[in-house]
Amino acid sequence: MRCLVIHGSPRRGNTYDVLEKVILKLKDIENLDIEIIELRKENIPLCIGCFNCILKGEDRCPHRNNMESLIKKINEAEVLIFTSPVYSMQISGLMKNFIDHLSFNFHRPKFIGKKALVITTTAGAGHKNSANYLRDVLKYHGITEVITLPIAYRASTLNDKNLKLIDKQSGKFKSIIENKNIKNASFKQVMLYNFWRGMDKSEGMEADEKFYLENNRVYYDESKVNFIYKIFGNLAYKIIKK
Ligand SMILES: Cc1cc2nc3c(=O)[nH]c(=O)nc-3n(C[C@H](O)[C@H](O)[C@H](O)COP(=O)(O)O)c2cc1C
Repeated sequence: MRCLVIHGSPRRGNTYDVLEKVILKLKDIENLDIEIIELRKENIPLCIGCFNCILKGEDRCPHRNNMESLIKKINEAEVLIFTSPVYSMQISGLMKNFIDHLSFNFHRPKFIGKKALVITTTAGAGHKNSANYLRDVLKYHGITEVITLPIAYRASTLNDKNLKLIDKQSGKFKSIIENKNIKNASFKQVMLYNFWRGMDKSEGMEADEKFYLENNRVYYDESKVNFIYKIFGNLAYKIIKK
């Protein structure tokens, strides 16, 4: 099983310290192969807002030479860990720029069936909001199970409270990784999918049109969708289509 870490700090500091502690907890999962990508080394230019990834397809991103291999690694991983320090009450610019380059996933969620952990660290505040923000983004990308680990790293070392939280959240993460089942899609995920499915013929949205032609059903894996969600999803699709 592959686990890909996207490390969003420009250094190996507090966030990396927490990450290393989490990795220690995951070490005894059988055949878990962990790879760490440090975004600072990837030199991804700032998103220029061209809309190409959303409208024409992610293969048309002007920064595809930086992004393609990273997206391939994400696609190949069953387990993801996203990490970020808190800067000015939010995730780092490094991580935000990376996420902006994944914006096509809001229209065409492709990270289905993965399990994720989000780690954020702060000196005082913003760690919970930042972790929740990253969790929400990953859910928009199609992931149904995202554990958060927000840490207020106030002193030069982790205190007992922090160590207990790392233990608790790593334990939860470990158990969802070891459980072969994938949690069902949420109501919001099914509705959003059908919103974009219904909009697929909108002017200029050629990537969505192609995608939803190939995925013209209420959700990727219909067996993983609650019966009531299916009814609402199809209804939303029909109304929007009209
Ligand atoms: C540019 C910058 C902005 C920061 N903004 C905040 C902030 O808004 N709130 C806060 O509590 N800590 C803030 N911090 C502190 C970091 O979030 C904290 O030290 C974090 O653990 C650093 O992680 P790292 O060692 O992995 O880089 C900031 C640090 C930097 C460098």
